Amino acid sequence: MNYDNLMQLALERGFYFPSCEIYSDAQAGFWEYGPAGVSLKNKFLELWRRQLVRRDQMLEIDGSQIMSKSVFEASGHLTSFADPIIKCKNCKSTFRADKLIAETTQDEILESADLADFDKIITEKNVKCPRCKGDFDNCRKFNLMFKVGIGPEGEEAYLRPETCQSIFVDFPRLFKTMRGKLPLGIAQIGKSFRNEIAPRQSLLRLREFYQAEIEVFCNPNKLNDLEKFSEIEDTKITVQVGQEPKLMTCKEAVDSGSIPNKFVAYYLGILIEFYEKTGIDLTKSRFRKLDEKEKAFYAEVAFDFEVETSIGWLELVACNYRSDYDLKSHSKKSKEKFEVMDNDEKILPHVFEISMGIDRSLYSILEHSLREDKKNERIVLSLKPYLAPIHVGVLSLVKKDGLKEKTDEIFNEIKTKYDAFLDHSGAIGRRYRRLDEVGAPLAITVDHQTLEDNTVTMRDRDSMDQERIKLTELDSILLNKTAFP
Ligand code: GLY
Repeated sequence: MNYDNLMQLALERGFYFPSCEIYSDAQAGFWEYGPAGVSLKNKFLELWRRQLVRRDQMLEIDGSQIMSKSVFEASGHLTSFADPIIKCKNCKSTFRADKLIAETTQDEILESADLADFDKIITEKNVKCPRCKGDFDNCRKFNLMFKVGIGPEGEEAYLRPETCQSIFVDFPRLFKTMRGKLPLGIAQIGKSFRNEIAPRQSLLRLREFYQAEIEVFCNPNKLNDLEKFSEIEDTKITVQVGQEPKLMTCKEAVDSGSIPNKFVAYYLGILIEFYEKTGIDLTKSRFRKLDEKEKAFYAEVAFDFEVETSIGWLELVACNYRSDYDLKSHSKKSKEKFEVMDNDEKILPHVFEISMGIDRSLYSILEHSLREDKKNERIVLSLKPYLAPIHVGVLSLVKKDGLKEKTDEIFNEIKTKYDAFLDHSGAIGRRYRRLDEVGAPLAITVDHQTLEDNTVTMRDRDSMDQERIKLTELDSILLNKTAFP
């Protein structure tokens, strides 16, 4: 199943849809999650909390989305978080210079080239506007942050382009008040904002998007001194350094130098163990080491966790070794002290980050779970039961003879504990199909026998098998089948 199949399902079954869609001035790059999308997202985040935050005893915070100008002066975003753009003199269309050059000339993308280099290539290769064949103005930098004006004086501030800046700024207080010890992970889920020049493909390039970021503060002298490395040393990951992806254990990755140290390998290991539980097909995944030109300006070493989908490889997580870049910059600008004690050693911690794109992760989970069951003429979303927007459909075979009342009674008993969906109307086959499409792993149906012996049929989404179960066992079956790992 491909991008278009998923888009159709997303629109029809309430996963996601364009923002402000009833108005013609709706802007690209803004999407809403519908009820099914929110339910999936909440469960995905619960899994993230369990498998990463809780597993590693991290701290979770919830910071402001609008942050002061000083934050981004210190972080470097005001000067460096910009894309090169060019504008057509004739039709005024704007393009990303590096992407347009790559598309037109089939040359490699030159992200790190400076503006004069872009102008030179555009002239030499005679690159024209793809819309009207017009000539371009000189190339310029376009900062991707959204500026906002605070209060009546419109004081300058910004919507955060990455959630992690609050984690860096809050670090001294958190380390002290939470009695932190290195290594310490601090996590945050929230929205970030980037004024993308060419947002596209629904959840894949948004201007307002969700991140789940983890910043792990560590002693740079102890990157190979990590007891818990043994938990993941045999965990398999695909690492790509250069052109060739290779499947190896985390231990082999460190021993061969593909991953620089045990500390980084540990976090890539627990990350892959998390993704394995989301249902993403890990045979279509890789940690790709970025070369100098591809890395973000704050990263010393970077691996992108990428997943293959019908529209190519998608970056779901940026794993950046940011060294002391952020703490040093904030310390210098704010004059706050960021050094901490690690046993007897006073150090400025380094940071390794696991910056997850939630929207892209949800897209990949959905695409990898969607399948067409041709034999039974149905579309099935085979989500892990604990991620399914609806855990169980509760259906009456017919409404008459007291079946509706009995079904309502069962639904009312379970509705606060599970995501249950009550459905009385329509042909039973069609009702099952709708549940299959939204990924509900189970459905129970109340029939005349239920009134006699308090049993219902329980249908399994993937096998379509039906079995008769006692209502007294319903709760424990649901609990068992929908529990988080
Ligand atoms: N914090 C890294 C990123 O947003 O990509």
